[in-house]
Amino acid sequence: MRIAIMASEGAPYIKSGGLGDVMEALPSALARIDGNEVVLLLPYYKKIKDNPAYATEQVCHFDVTLGWRQQYAGLMRLKNRQDGVTVYFIDNDYYFGARPGPIYGDFDDGERFAFFSRACLEALGYLAFIPDVIQCNDWQTALVPVFLKAWYYDRFSQTRTMFTIHNVEYQGWAHGGFFDDVLALPWEYRGCLDMHGQVNVMKGAIEAAHMVTTVSETYARELMYPYYAHGLDSILANAAWKLRGITNGIDVGTFNPETDPHIPAHYNADSFVTGKAACKAALQQEVGLNVEADTPLLVMVTRLAGHKGLDLLCYIARKLLWEENCQILILGTGEPQFESFFRELAAEFPGRVSAQITFNLGLAARIYAGGDIYMMPSRSEPCGLSQMNAMRYGTVPVVHATGGLRDTVPPADENGQNGLGFTFQSYNGDDFLASMKRCLHLYHYNRDGFRDLQYRDMCQDFSWNIPALRYMELFHQMLQR
Ligand code: GLC
Repeated sequence: MRIAIMASEGAPYIKSGGLGDVMEALPSALARIDGNEVVLLLPYYKKIKDNPAYATEQVCHFDVTLGWRQQYAGLMRLKNRQDGVTVYFIDNDYYFGARPGPIYGDFDDGERFAFFSRACLEALGYLAFIPDVIQCNDWQTALVPVFLKAWYYDRFSQTRTMFTIHNVEYQGWAHGGFFDDVLALPWEYRGCLDMHGQVNVMKGAIEAAHMVTTVSETYARELMYPYYAHGLDSILANAAWKLRGITNGIDVGTFNPETDPHIPAHYNADSFVTGKAACKAALQQEVGLNVEADTPLLVMVTRLAGHKGLDLLCYIARKLLWEENCQILILGTGEPQFESFFRELAAEFPGRVSAQITFNLGLAARIYAGGDIYMMPSRSEPCGLSQMNAMRYGTVPVVHATGGLRDTVPPADENGQNGLGFTFQSYNGDDFLASMKRCLHLYHYNRDGFRDLQYRDMCQDFSWNIPALRYMELFHQMLQR
């Protein structure tokens, strides 16, 4: 099958969050399946252009029309990708190549990604690559299914489009004038993109794509409710017939306690007791916690953003520290009120709380390895990857049963049997505290049960092999329609 994947970020070239991780592993997993030909299209950001590790050659260049604008686009092929995926970058200095700084958040993001989406479709034409399936991701490439229908239908009449939602919070809103000024689509597409007199490109993709997916089954259902959908609930409920959830995997090659170069001791499911003990002692030392083997170490690696459930953690942190023998370690940056909360907590409980307000992938790995309990009380979570990383390193998750957290962490009983972690159902601090206490009770009073749980966590297959097959199944379904 010929598959074209389009996204605004993809590791290792450029990554701001989970989308970047998925765009590293999913194309690769699809390319490993016999008979697939996979191309990945990304913007040629300055950070990629300036990086000597990513040598490219120009395949061709062409003009892209956006309303009255004619903009240059260079099509660059990456020379050194080894896994069968052909990576192309869309080059344009004005929109991407000459802009330093973060990849999102410019005043003209709407125009930049409209350009990118249209350039991707043009590029396929110049390459004479007629895909069976186009898979595009989040609002930045949401215009692809709309443009395809409006302008490229003759060339790609057999091509099916899948639009994948990684986070419904960011929908690509623009003022109503954007429709004529930048998109200049035929008038009959106005309804598809219009929401309350403004343009919403994610809505356009949901209506125009042949299939809409999101990154877990539970989130696919949640998206049809106002609490989760940030205004798109009725649009998504109308699209229920073509809405599916596929739970992400993680990169089990990178996240592997047997080989991870960042951690001080290597271990697997049979040797984790000694391996994790060595990692824990080194970690406590590194971040300034008391080096105590039998004090449970509660950890969290996260953006310090409200929807990650930090308000609940702030509410229960002191109770936990007063009532339980435990240590807390947080790694991440984000909203100032959370940064200062954890800094103050660390000052108040020296040796028991450590706040690492920074972004550090090596330390993140050492935390997955050295922690005992991983906290993830997110208010909502499309999929979530770090709970899977934690389990792979034998760290027991305590999660709010929502979205992908609910799908990847089935609840264990109080003896640590049957599930993979501890969960709470309703989003409030007391329920979170109660599930933390159940987990701590197991750690203190039934260490064998706790270790059974760690063992089962480490034995799960979180690789991309299974999700990649699910994507293939849906691709085949689309082609039969
Ligand atoms: C977004 C979601 C996260 C998901 C990731 C990859 O970052 O917030 O839950 O795991 O995308 O799909």
